Amino acid sequence: MDSKVAKADAKHQKIHSRKRKKDNDDRKVGSEIFDKITLETLYKLANQGYIDVLNGAISTGKEANVLTGIHKENKFTAVKIYRIATSDFKKMNYYLNGDPRFNIKTKNKRKIINSWVTKEYKNLKRLYDAGVSVPEPYTSLNNVLLLEFIGDEKGNPYQPVKNQKPENPDDFFSKLLAEVKKFVNEAKLVHGDLSNYNILNKNETPVIIDVSQSVVLDNPISKELLERDINTLVREYKKLGVDTDFDEIWEYISPVF
Ligand SMILES: Nc1ncnc2c1ncn2[C@@H]1O[C@H](COP(=O)(O)OP(=O)(O)OP(=O)(O)O)[C@@H](O)[C@H]1O
Ligand SMILES: [Mg+2]
Repeated sequence: MDSKVAKADAKHQKIHSRKRKKDNDDRKVGSEIFDKITLETLYKLANQGYIDVLNGAISTGKEANVLTGIHKENKFTAVKIYRIATSDFKKMNYYLNGDPRFNIKTKNKRKIINSWVTKEYKNLKRLYDAGVSVPEPYTSLNNVLLLEFIGDEKGNPYQPVKNQKPENPDDFFSKLLAEVKKFVNEAKLVHGDLSNYNILNKNETPVIIDVSQSVVLDNPISKELLERDINTLVREYKKLGVDTDFDEIWEYISPVF
């Protein structure tokens, strides 16, 4: 594995282990995420008619908080808010630099976060338009991304596969592979952090989330990221009892770089 990718990966692992410690710490949400600019951004989005009410937190991660919002027709929205204080700018810069769509040369942290959020929005849009099972993106502004809420009509979010194992792993896995194939061949993107943490189990159908770090196939690191993603899936789904291996999946996707 390329050492740069390995480094970014090690960083990411750290983020995930720290994240788990904080997962239950909902009390901090208010003071931590609603800095002045975030509040102004949320007001603007409210004025534009995107959200009326902000509800509780679905997830309190290291870099982002995901909340449910409600808008006019009593529809739920997911509201993903990146926190400037805890964002990993090195990682963001690393994934932004190789992307011809984001030729940014700035050390301004807010600008980097805004590009990161725009990148997640654009990736989601491209995936959604290509028919991949991802939440529909609504809009993004500064450090806030509004996207389709993946959950039931009462506002309960569907859980990541990590917490909600599929009833029929073989069936679920073949649906997932069909989505990954479209991800790569139709949307021409590689996820880059694909794992059961970032795949929601929507009534036995996979919904892929968290695509801020996803890269275009033209990005020099895309091949290695796809290899890593596939290795992760093989490891995780073997544990769930699925009989699969790397070569079989690679051949099924048949990526063209
Ligand atoms: N559209 C959505 N609908 C329902 N739940 C969602 C949605 N998006 C995210 N979530 C929930 O929020 C969690 C975190 O979201 P996501 O993976 O996008 O953030 P993250 O980048 O991993 O955050 P961090 O790195 O700060 O931990 C997910 O594991 C999932 O439980
Ligand atoms: Mg995630």
